[in-house]
Amino acid sequence: MRPTALIPALLSAAALVLAFLCLFAGHKKDFMEDYHILTLNTSRLGEGVINGTLGQSDSTLGSLWNLVPDSIQNDVSEAAGVVTEKLGIEDFYSAHLLDYCYGQYTPAESPNATLPASAIHKNVSACSNQTAMFYFNPTQIIEDALAKSGLDITLDDLEWPSDIQRGLDALRIVSVTAFVLYCISIGLIFLSFVGAVVAVFAAGRLSACVNLLVGILAFVAIGLASALVTAVIEKGGDVINEKGADVGVVAGKGRRFMALTWAATGLVGVVLVVWVVEMCAGRRRRGAYGGAKHG
Ligand SMILES: *[C@@H]1O[C@H](CO)[C@@H](O)[C@H](O)[C@H]1NC(C)=O
Ligand SMILES: *[C@@H]1O[C@H](CO)[C@@H](O)[C@H](O)[C@H]1NC(C)=O
Ligand SMILES: *[C@@H]1O[C@H](CO)[C@@H](O)[C@H](O)[C@H]1NC(C)=O
Ligand SMILES: *[C@@H]1O[C@H](CO)[C@@H](O)[C@H](O)[C@H]1NC(C)=O
Ligand SMILES: *[C@@H]1O[C@H](CO)[C@@H](O)[C@H](O)[C@H]1NC(C)=O
Repeated sequence: MRPTALIPALLSAAALVLAFLCLFAGHKKDFMEDYHILTLNTSRLGEGVINGTLGQSDSTLGSLWNLVPDSIQNDVSEAAGVVTEKLGIEDFYSAHLLDYCYGQYTPAESPNATLPASAIHKNVSACSNQTAMFYFNPTQIIEDALAKSGLDITLDDLEWPSDIQRGLDALRIVSVTAFVLYCISIGLIFLSFVGAVVAVFAAGRLSACVNLLVGILAFVAIGLASALVTAVIEKGGDVINEKGADVGVVAGKGRRFMALTWAATGLVGVVLVVWVVEMCAGRRRRGAYGGAKHG
């Protein structure tokens, strides 16, 4: 018996749950939506169109103006909301590891004097189908929405910056690699859990040694996955905020996702430390008792 192996067993079980949550956060409507990787706030996208149409009446864009009720034509923000809605563009698009979700901000798109930002929530309409190796492609998403709207509006009319997609495309490999690493991590953390449970009953240096090896692999895998996804969040968010500023597109970075994935990494790291200590303690005990097997 090695009761101390219960500690890595419990820690591995907790890390396994967290790693699963990383993979499946947002995989369906309203399941951990706040644990997104990136959220694209497109609620102001219509404002650029409104600004562009003011003063033109003959172009395609000018005809959009006719869709806006007279009563709110003086309120750019309200009018922008109407235009965005007519174009079939949602308030937000949030990327997860397996899919993306979209919907409207409720009760309003932006905070005002009486409505603090903390009171604004996402009302998810739906999520895309889950795909392994999913890759977030907002340009395609907006293009599809425009095509479906039946209006003769293109990405160019919206002045959609193609640099956004160029920036995100550069992160494609990183993002897909992170997905693969999460799958590998889940397998290794599971092995680490099984190994720790076995070690509770079958003590000995071999089991501690095998567990240490599995622990190292699991730590490297989840650590790398976390690092890659952190890069996607930070770099992707910066690219969107930089290139999207002109058309009012803002990115929200997945702080909670980062907390989740680094917590999982931390737990696996502690498991590793426990096995190192076990190995050293085992060696010392063996030394003290003249090489006798312990346990
Ligand atoms: C639209 O025009 C208003 C007023 O000129 C400006 O404050 C706002 O930033 C513009 N919005 C966009 C998205 O260009
Ligand atoms: C969405 O972005 C706009 C600026 O483009 C901002 O005014 C608004 O507060 C944002 N909404 C949320 C819910 O973050
Ligand atoms: C703030 O927004 C809410 C929701 O749209 C609205 O009911 C309220 O009147 C607004 N307050 C101000 C001061 O504009
Ligand atoms: C969320 O949106 C749905 C329609 O898409 C609506 O019926 C529901 O009332 C909204 N919920 C909130 C809290 O605004
Ligand atoms: C999602 O999956 C359903 C059935 O599983 C299919 O009918 C639908 O076309 C798929 N949607 C997309 C966008 O691929």
